[in-house]
Amino acid sequence: MEILIIGSGGREHALALALAADPSVTGLHVAPGNAGTAALATNHAVLATDPAAVTALASRLGVDLVVVGPEAPLVAGVADAVRAAGIDCFGPSAAAAALEGSKAFAKQVMAQAGVPTAMAHVCTTPEEVAAALDQFGAPYVVKDDGLAGGKGVVVTGDREAALAHGRACLARPDGAVVVEEYLDGPEVSLFAITDGVSAVPLVPAQDFKRVGDGDTGPNTGGMGAYAPLPWAPAGLVEEVMARVVQPTVDTMRRRGTPFAGLLYAGLALTRRGLRVVEFNARFGDPETQVVLALLRTPLAGVLRAAARGTLGDLPPLEWHPGSAITVVLAAPGYPEAPETGGVLTGVPDAAAGESGWDAAWVVHAGTDRHDGALVATGGRVLCATARAADLVGARERAYALLEGIRLAGGHHRGDIALAAAEGRITLP
Ligand code: AMP
Ligand code: GLY
Repeated sequence: MEILIIGSGGREHALALALAADPSVTGLHVAPGNAGTAALATNHAVLATDPAAVTALASRLGVDLVVVGPEAPLVAGVADAVRAAGIDCFGPSAAAAALEGSKAFAKQVMAQAGVPTAMAHVCTTPEEVAAALDQFGAPYVVKDDGLAGGKGVVVTGDREAALAHGRACLARPDGAVVVEEYLDGPEVSLFAITDGVSAVPLVPAQDFKRVGDGDTGPNTGGMGAYAPLPWAPAGLVEEVMARVVQPTVDTMRRRGTPFAGLLYAGLALTRRGLRVVEFNARFGDPETQVVLALLRTPLAGVLRAAARGTLGDLPPLEWHPGSAITVVLAAPGYPEAPETGGVLTGVPDAAAGESGWDAAWVVHAGTDRHDGALVATGGRVLCATARAADLVGARERAYALLEGIRLAGGHHRGDIALAAAEGRITLP
């Protein structure tokens, strides 16, 4: 099977690593890709959000499957265009990707499907925002309705800051803002692969959204992740599938916009039970790095089955025992004003990487090669990823790998998976 992956981040390099390890994959292409994907696949220049350009590339390469990584191409209709050209595509239609593209739409579908989520108001004027803030009280949660790369959400105890974020979102063309109740309790990312009818869960992971240690500073796209969750209540995955994923898949199908691809449920385990914080229409980044590190079943066949509507015919997924962790190295200034162009040193070659079960490796995110030098090209630059028998061992390996890597002004969190490794996560 020849595969084209669309995107250029850590998620896409992690997908490429998993697909390259699948013996059924005979050719691997990534567009646009990064320095990591260039080492194991052929990179191609393309504007990922241009459906015609992606379809033309897939046709020219003669690939059997296109895997769309990020949300923006999905929302732009890339999967629709690829499928219309008769090529299998892993990723939902633009209509179904609205589950991520519009928080207001997601709330509507959740209400229809009976999925537990935070109470919310969709506001279109600053007066409505102010009224909703006062109804729910602090801490305030204010979200841009549209796509914002994980940076459209402000959670704050400061009413003025909440109102200011609301005003900034409303100032955009067709701006709308979702104000919702604050959800306490640990967060879980659960990914389900679905063909629009059946759905198969992957292992639950936890992401670290805030830029600083101890969950301080602004929200980012994600600064690290680990899986599985030693503290998760028994039956969590089954409960999420029964109360969240399957009802959402069923409702999307009944509405005439079946969701086929990856449904990412961002959850909070609150004292009143589980609640959906958000849906995404694609693999999470950086959670994919740890989830795929633990997946034993060859990935290509699973993604193709989802694209073709034959997921129900597959045997259950198989998983490695043990734990995986990934720690993001970010560029100076990330997330507010990332400074790109810095030179990276000490990054081990993919080919020279460790192999075997107990290992650590670099997943590239915003990297490129300029005259042989490895250069940072994005806010999230790379991810030190490791797998070991437990979280303590996986943390040691990932942080040891990061120790040897240099990027002037680069920063990373030092506490990824620390509370879980020390058994300090408690459920409310
Ligand atoms: P989202 O883009 O909706 O996932 O929001 C980004 C992050 O903001 C989440 O991962 C949470 O950490 C936080 N967040 C979003 N909604 C809420 C909420 N209702 N209560 C508490 N935290 C939230
Ligand atoms: N890691 C969060 C996301 O992918 O949206």
